[in-house]
Amino acid sequence: MRLIVVKDYDEMSKAAAKEMAAVVNSNPKAILGLATGGTPEGMYKELIRMNKAGEIDFKDVTSVNLDEYVGLGGDHPQSYRYFMNNHLLDHINIDKSRTFVPNGLAEDVNEEGRKYDQMIDDLGGIDMQLLGVGTNGHIAFNEPDGELVAGTHLTGLTKSTIESNSRYFDSEDDVPKTAVTMGLGQIMKSKKILLIASGENKAEAMKELFSGKISTSCPVTMLQMHKDVTVILDEAAASLLK
Ligand code: F6R
Repeated sequence: MRLIVVKDYDEMSKAAAKEMAAVVNSNPKAILGLATGGTPEGMYKELIRMNKAGEIDFKDVTSVNLDEYVGLGGDHPQSYRYFMNNHLLDHINIDKSRTFVPNGLAEDVNEEGRKYDQMIDDLGGIDMQLLGVGTNGHIAFNEPDGELVAGTHLTGLTKSTIESNSRYFDSEDDVPKTAVTMGLGQIMKSKKILLIASGENKAEAMKELFSGKISTSCPVTMLQMHKDVTVILDEAAASLLK
């Protein structure tokens, strides 16, 4: 794993945008795996700036997102489709018909997940997958558990994730308790992985990532088995690394 430690959130965002731009600039038809959450917001702002400045062209890019809440349609302000449109896709020159987010309203979420994986495989796979990380080490919505699922699937959210994501909802009760998420198998098939983390509350998970041990009780540790991972951390997220 390639580790880059920078001063703060702003530098993390700029460094991450640069990594993604390098992929698109060398392959204008790149398939980008995207994430939601607070962590990538600054990076998306920087990508919008770069797009407007002519430093990155999304015209022929395809995007696939990691996850979506079950029960929220794309026009719901807390849905991940809405987040993506609002924070990136509506502000860059990407063809919106080639931007994909798992469907949280599907009748059979697992069947929808199989189709999502097939679509990604048919596209030729993900060239760069962007990941944030949960304080409990989750990636996408693959929560700590005795076993992890390979493909895109229906999953329950842990109490800690519901608590942490309640900051975007009126109350904790409003946070959906289930989601559809890309599985570890699909994530690990990505040609490159870019993980970003900022803040002290991510330091413990980052310590696990660099511990040399792999465990389903800290899903991010799986990334140690991938051969092209770049990790960009701010000093606070890196504070427990030796
Ligand atoms: C979002 C996702 C999640 C987040 C994680 C961290 O698509 O897959 O795994 O990356 O929950 O969230 P933030 O960035 O809000 O700390």
